[in-house]
Amino acid sequence: MIIAVDGHAASGKGTIAKRVAAHYNLAHLDTGSLYRSVGMGMVKRGEDIRDVALATAAALNLQAEALSEDEIRSEAAGTAASVVAAYEDVRAALKRFQRAFAENPPGGKTGAVIDGRDIGTVIWPNAEAKLFVTASLDVRTDRRVLELQQRGAILNWAEIRADLADRDERDENRPVSPLLQAEDAYLLDTTKLDIEAAVAAAIAVINARLGQP
Ligand code: DC
Repeated sequence: MIIAVDGHAASGKGTIAKRVAAHYNLAHLDTGSLYRSVGMGMVKRGEDIRDVALATAAALNLQAEALSEDEIRSEAAGTAASVVAAYEDVRAALKRFQRAFAENPPGGKTGAVIDGRDIGTVIWPNAEAKLFVTASLDVRTDRRVLELQQRGAILNWAEIRADLADRDERDENRPVSPLLQAEDAYLLDTTKLDIEAAVAAAIAVINARLGQP
């Protein structure tokens, strides 16, 4: 069983996906971390993220464990991820990784919750349940600022808001696999929901899709 959770940056989709995976005892794959590893790995090696051939090589040699959690979660990593995510060959390399995970979830699990931008549209269009998670830009900025502050980063609210807006723009308008709500995805707007309410809403929708009470 595959549950696809797509949506905007800082919409809460990652936390929702992790909690939904625990609820149904499924594996969880945060596909944003793959793009973050590729982009941030290049930045660390002093490579130009506009170099498609180097980005493709990085995606083919992806070693997610090579970077620390703080490096992967930084705003710089999110921006680098969004740039390399526009390259068709990078997406093709990471698509193979994601499909292999879905076909053979680790830990003997019977399925997976996969979160990203194009899971329900491109990676696994036959997912048993699909969510598209969003929230207003201001609320997403508040959440991202809080998350980065908790990691000890010094930041500016307006800059983070502008970063997220740029990222939305790039993710939604790239020609290859843009961020798009699948026709059969449920739109979950978390603007007015705290995380508990958002997770409860996600589980209720998924139960309905799976025909469970
Ligand atoms: O979900 P996130 O913020 O960690 O993702 C970082 C960037 O990676 C995002 O701006 C776009 C890209 N991405 C993508 O293009 N496709 C995915 N499935 C996941 C992330």
